[in-house]
Amino acid sequence: MSELSVYEVLNRKRRGEALEPRVIEEFINRYTAGGIPDYQMSALLMAVAINGMSGQEMATLTQAMLRSGEQWHLRDQYDFIADKHSTGGVGDKVSLVLSPWVAACGVKIGMLSGRGLGHTGGTLDKLEAISGFNARLSRKDFERCIAEVGCVISTSTEGIAPADKKIYALRDVTGTVESLPLITASIMSKKLAMGASALILDVKTGSGAFMRKYEDSKALAKSLIAAAEGSGTRVEALITDMDRPLGVAAGNANEIAETLDVLAGKGPKDVEDVTRAQAVRVLVMSKKFDEASAGKALDDALRSGRALQQAHKWIAAQGGNASKLPQPRETIEVKAPRSGYVTSIDTYQAGMFCSIAGPAMRCAPARQSRASSSAPANAIRKSCGSDSSPSSSSEMQRPFLAP
Ligand code: URA
Repeated sequence: MSELSVYEVLNRKRRGEALEPRVIEEFINRYTAGGIPDYQMSALLMAVAINGMSGQEMATLTQAMLRSGEQWHLRDQYDFIADKHSTGGVGDKVSLVLSPWVAACGVKIGMLSGRGLGHTGGTLDKLEAISGFNARLSRKDFERCIAEVGCVISTSTEGIAPADKKIYALRDVTGTVESLPLITASIMSKKLAMGASALILDVKTGSGAFMRKYEDSKALAKSLIAAAEGSGTRVEALITDMDRPLGVAAGNANEIAETLDVLAGKGPKDVEDVTRAQAVRVLVMSKKFDEASAGKALDDALRSGRALQQAHKWIAAQGGNASKLPQPRETIEVKAPRSGYVTSIDTYQAGMFCSIAGPAMRCAPARQSRASSSAPANAIRKSCGSDSSPSSSSEMQRPFLAP
């Protein structure tokens, strides 16, 4: 592809024409190797975000990004190893809860997770709020954690899907995050490169998700599953609500604290329910459990305290100590002018607020006793209705949408 043909490729995609597999492959290879500048890749990303891609183009893009780096084939090394991915939301700490919870039931799980994208928080950013936590493991240390404690979460190593690393950073600053083909290729290139036995996908829908409409989220779920066809990794997806931040805390350190609350059986019910639904599917996909025994194993792990112990073991295996979370320098109470129930939240704006506020800021609602305690927090803790009102909790019941 000459300079002229890069220009021609951009023109064709701008006109909404499909690109041949060899053109997509070459574009990705040359961009990864530094032979195509960011401004030309940005133009392609924008054209794709506006005009979309055919199923064939999307599959080629995913494969080209996957092949830009290492492939680990972890499923060949273990009887069963699970992976989990969320399409991203606000207050979404499901991976953090799910990983030790599933491991406490005897099922191995490893995740290569990402940083925040757009208005959504990143699992790695949250984990790095834990003092000493090493979220940049080599493949050797990644596997050491699996062997020692049965679960691990780390950033993709440099070798995994390097094309995605460059494109992900570019999308974050070019308004091209919300695109079905780009999200599909980004997620699945990394997931298939790790090569777990099974992958559970948490596809968010609502005002805090990249796909705001249920139909679009369903299309994304289908597209992600289709991208894994023939890969050897079994993939299931659940579509879950992101019309409100998940739980009562958003922001890195806040979400670690809430994760430990949930694993202690004292966390918000919506986080527990959404995580449990995904954990059940992981346990069933391992073939060691059916739905009923999976539910029971998860209950036992939570009630016995094993899930929480497992979280501490896992955090220690990655060098962290969760008893030392950063504390806010300043607390601002935002009081509701009158009593009532929160019926809707602009979750996107809440996410933007968190990303702007950064780790130095904490907002605590006046009426929530937990929030005004010494619990560490770094962005938002929300209060919806009074704790004593039965309708407030049912108001906050999270609709859980079936796969
Ligand atoms: N997560 C990813 O890894 N990529 C996306 O594009 C969106 C969410």
